[in-house]
Parts: sequence; structure tokens; C-alpha cells
Amino acid sequence: MRYADLHRRSIEDPEGFWLEQAQAIDWVKAPERALFDERAPIYEWFKDARLNACWNALDRHVEGGRAEQVALIYDSPVTHTKQTYTYRELRDRVASLAGALKARGVGKGDRVVIYMPMIPQALEAMLACARLGAIHSVVFGGFAARELATRIDDAKPRAIIAASCGIEPGRVVHYKPLLDGAIEMATHKPEFCIIYQREQEVAKLTEGRDLDWHECQYGVESAECTPVEGDHPLYILYTSGTTGQPKGVIRATAGYLVALAWTMKNHYNVNPGEVFWTASDVGWVVGHSYIVYAPLLHGATSVVFEGKPVGTPDAGTFWRIVEEYGVVSFFTAPTAFRAIKREDPAGEMVAKYDTTSLRALYLAGERADPDTVLWAQDKLKLPVIDHWWQTETGWPICGNPQGFEKLPVKIGSPSVPMPGYDVRVLDEGGKPVAPGELGAIAIRLPLPPGTLPNLWQAEERFLKSYLNTFPGYYETGDAGYVDEDGYLYIMARTDDVINVAGHRLSTGAMEEVLASHPDVGECAVIGVADELKGQLPLGFLCLNKGVTRDHATVVKEAVDLVRERIGPVAAFKLAVVVERLPKTRSGKILRATMVKIANGEEFAVPATIDDPAILDEIAAALNTLGYPCG
Ligand code: COA
Ligand code: AMP
Repeated sequence: MRYADLHRRSIEDPEGFWLEQAQAIDWVKAPERALFDERAPIYEWFKDARLNACWNALDRHVEGGRAEQVALIYDSPVTHTKQTYTYRELRDRVASLAGALKARGVGKGDRVVIYMPMIPQALEAMLACARLGAIHSVVFGGFAARELATRIDDAKPRAIIAASCGIEPGRVVHYKPLLDGAIEMATHKPEFCIIYQREQEVAKLTEGRDLDWHECQYGVESAECTPVEGDHPLYILYTSGTTGQPKGVIRATAGYLVALAWTMKNHYNVNPGEVFWTASDVGWVVGHSYIVYAPLLHGATSVVFEGKPVGTPDAGTFWRIVEEYGVVSFFTAPTAFRAIKREDPAGEMVAKYDTTSLRALYLAGERADPDTVLWAQDKLKLPVIDHWWQTETGWPICGNPQGFEKLPVKIGSPSVPMPGYDVRVLDEGGKPVAPGELGAIAIRLPLPPGTLPNLWQAEERFLKSYLNTFPGYYETGDAGYVDEDGYLYIMARTDDVINVAGHRLSTGAMEEVLASHPDVGECAVIGVADELKGQLPLGFLCLNKGVTRDHATVVKEAVDLVRERIGPVAAFKLAVVVERLPKTRSGKILRATMVKIANGEEFAVPATIDDPAILDEIAAALNTLGYPCG
């Protein structure tokens, strides 16, 4: 069968198609129905079935002959550690941790926040929650205490599982004080915390609240898998929206597993028993899906990498890992390749290692710029597969199904829609545009299994954020076009979200922080083009009347404030004081025009602008920061 026919079938007969795919996983009670549309436009999948995600990821492989196969390879150049865990070992460790959680009352439906770096214990914590039917919510380690507090208040966890520290090149990230600060700030208090003490830093435990990871497992009975309904949330993952309040994306268990199972062979071309490596972080959706759940579900071996593409120790780290473990499929963000290319333009490091086990390289998380794709293709002599998805969807919306049919690769395009995604490009009025014409990218409802059914306790916001703009469609927030062959091109966001080193950040959230500085009267944050990270945030600050302090001091305080409130991951280092901001006559800040000035792009002075002279002031201010560069 051609892929185009398979895709057509998935759209025309979603019920039949997905019930068939559902056979790839183990059920306690098999689904009789796939799609539940009674509450349309809110759709649910496999609601009548029962299963357990941890069983599917671990136990069934132990029972089915893979007990002694390596499930996880932990490779940490930052701590000089290499370890492997078989499926049996991992199952036993997870069952033991789940037992400790259960003994303290954690059960189905309880939330557990996880704040951990890229260590196997992070995966164990996630899977232990899944084993009990508890809902995990992993918070990325690069977020500051306040961001963690916001998520604690929204998810209201019964427990928090954290590590004592994370390791960034050149510094130890002290997780414990961040955790303590977050709990203090949050209105909701967890009943207890479990702390994994790393050798690199032993944290002080808070008596009566904190339990030691090992101690709390001592003498408790391991927990068995708790069956849950197909629509039971496996996790909540917070992602940036247009405001400082992150959106809690819900991932329902069954649809997710069914969709992920389809992708492992058909998209990533991995067979059970082979080594699959995603260099990302468990704090992001890419990590949830392709470091944890999908490779384990498929009976593959997953690599947990604690390091960076460069500097740990050099630009050859990725290729060393590929050679050492025989990785067949490798997935990362384009920014990682830009970092490597910058250090090793001639590809000398690539040539030092044997990378012939690799079948393809997969890139996602941000736009894959043609220069980087061509460099990677040339140095690795492999197909480079760009694919497009979001935290909300949990798995690729568009991609190139390498294990089903190797479709031609077009540089600059993440190829074609994956099963169940009916992708359309619409004009402002919601009418489809012609091929080649730019528009808002939307997906006809229902979305396929695995995608978000709702936002955590925020249905109104869910409808408003995604479903109201184009009735009958899910609004992706991305803009682009489709070519004559049905290949999609993602060009920009339609909202205030920017993408920094593959990390999705809200400029609105940064503006909220800047506006809280006592000297700042008004501000705007834009994303400017950056050769390494794709985009970088840049802030414009208008100071309150009468403020006479040195501008450089205020700028430094503003930069520090964003790092303290949002975290280092915001990478907010550029800010400048201006007299006024360019606005329309109705008062809307002209951010898009400022982006064009900063990037040195052509732009038309907007007809609605209040005072065009302000644009010259903005250009002059940007000049002082070296923009436009080059
Ligand atoms: N915990 C604490 N701090 C973290 C962190 C974590 N887990 N991850 C990143 N940070 C910090 C970094 O140390 C850096 O701090 P600094 O300002 O003190 O230097 C800051 O957050 C910004 O991080 P980042 O934007 O990642 O820049 P970087 O210079 O550390 O690394 C790359 C640049 C390109 C090497 C890096 O972004 C990378 O490897 N990206 C891979 C892409 C990826 O994983 N994407 C996820 C989605 S697929
Ligand atoms: P996240 O939710 O963090 O995965 O970010 C999702 C957003 O990243 C998308 O809405 C896009 O804006 C961007 N993105 C992800 N993958 C790609 C890609 N392959 N090409 C272009 N943009 C991408």
C-alpha cells in the first residue's frame, strides 16, 4: 500500500483505521469503539477500554522475552557515567518506587510533579506514576522556582519527586533550593517530596516533608499495574501560551500509546530490539514521547543522554554515542546541529566515528534551516527528515514515514500529514487558500488519538485557544503553505510564541515579568533571528516618568529578573531602553514591524501607525545592540 492511500483511509475511516492500530498494544479490556464524539468539538478516543501505560512500556516485554534486553542506556559525559538497565531491572525499580508512592497514599488520578534532570531516575519516576494511574507533570530543570510554583498551583500535586541537582556545563544547578522556594511560593502544598540525592550534591532534606529516594523504598511492597480507562490522563505537560500562565496539555493514555506505537516503525523506522536515540530532555514533549514512552512501548532501547551537543567534551559526542551503541535512528533539534556545525564546519569529528548504523536523522522542535539540513546530509550521508509537531499533539503532525514508504525529501518542508491529521491552510476568514499561498495552518477535527483532548481544568481556555477561531478546526498557531504535491512548509507563528534553541517560550510571559520592574512603565519583547538558537528574545523598555537611574543598571536588573522568575532557559540577555514604542492608532504595539527592523528585513510602514518617526528611534536603539547584525 502507498502511504497516500493509508493516509486517505485514516481520514475517511478513522474508526476502522485506529481500531486496527490499537492491536499493537496490550489491553486489560480491548476497545470496542475508537472515537467518542458525543461532546464534539471535544473528542475522545478509546474511552471504553482499559489498560496501563507502564505495563505496555515494561512488564509486557519482561513477560514476552525481552527481560534481559537493555531498555535504557544512560550516557552522561557531564558526570563521566555510563550505565545500562535491562527491561527486568527497569520494571523492578519502577515497581519499587511505585510501591513507595502507593504506601504513602498516591493512587489513580493523583498528580505528581517531577523536577529532575536527564537521569534514568526521571524516567523511573514517570513510569512509577503511570503504573499507579497517577498523573505526572514533569517540569523542565531550566525553569525557575516561580515557574515551578505556577505549575504546582495548577496541577495541585499530592507529591513531588525531585533530584538534588542538575549538571550544566561549568555549574551545578541546585534543584533543592529551587524546589523549596517554589513550594514556599505556591498556595498548594504537596503532602510529601521524594528526593533523589545525586553524588554531585547532597541536598538538605526538610524534616516531615522530604523523603530520601532509597529510604522510602526500603521494606515497601512493589506495586502492580493499575488498569485505567482509555481516556485517563497519563500526564499533564505545561507549555507556553500567549500569557504568563502556562497551558496544561492533557495526554490521554490509550490514544497516545496507539499513536506512538504506529510511529516507531512507520515513521522512525525502528524495529524492536534496536537502539533509538532522542537527544532532548524529559521536560519537553519530545522527551516524553521519544525518550520514554514510544521506544519502550516498542521494545526498543532508548538512550538517556545527559550532556550537550558541543563542549561535553566536544562536537564529536553525538557521533561517539551513535558508534558506541549502534544507534539506528537519531532525533534532535536543528539548533544542536547548528552548534556542532559551528564548531566542526568541515565535519572532521563526524569522520572520526563510525556512524554507519544510522538509517536517518530526524529533526523537529523548530524550523530546520536548509543550510543545516544540507550540512548534516553531506557529512552523515543520510536522509535528514524534518518533521513538525507540538506539545499539544504529542506526536508528529507532518513527517516522512521512512519505515512505510520513503517519500522524496524536500529541503525546507517537514513533508506530509501523518495518519489522522487533515491539515489545511486557511485565510483569515477560515477559507482554504490555494497551494503556494500563505495562511494559518489548521487541522480539521477530530484530531487523531494521542493529541490533547483538553487543557487541565481549563476547558474554556482550551476552546478559546484552539477551537473557536476556525469552527470545525484545531488552530495550530503556525503559519505556512502547502505545495502542489501536498508538502507543508512551516514559516512562522501567528501568536507571541517564540522558539529559542528548540524551546518554546512566550514573549507575553517575559513582558509580564519586565512590567513588574518598578522603573518600567511599558515594554515589548520580540524574537529576533539568531544563527545558533533560531530566535532570541529582545526587550524594549520604556521607563516611568522621572526615572533618572542609569539605563544600563535598569537593563541589567531587567535581565536578571527574567532569569530569576522564568529561568535561564528563557535566554533573555538583550534589552534596550527606548522613549516610546511604535503603536497603531488603536494602541496595539507593532511587534512584527520591530522584528523586521531588527532582522534587517524589508518592511512597509504600517498604514495604521500612530507616529512613523518612532520606527527610526527603534532602529537606532537596535543599532546600539548590534542589530541588524551582519
Ligand atoms: N537545567 C538548568 N539550566 C538549563 C537547563 C537545565 N536542564 N537546560 C538549559 N539550561 C540553561 C543553560 O545552562 C543556559 O544557561 P546560561 O544562560 O547560564 O548559559 C540557558 O539555560 C540557556 O540554555 P540553551 O538555550 O539550551 O543554551 P546553551 O548555550 O546551554 O546550549 C545548545 C545551546 C544549542 C547546545 C542547546 O540548546 C541544545 O543542545 N539544544 C538541543 C535542543 C533541545 O534539546 N531541544 C529540546 C526540544 S527538541
Ligand atoms: P513545542 O510545543 O515546544 O514542541 O513547540 C511547537 C512549535 O515549534 C510548533 O508550533 C512550531 O512553531 C515549532 N516547530 C516544531 N517543529 C517544527 C518544524 N519541524 N518546523 C518548523 N517549526 C517547528
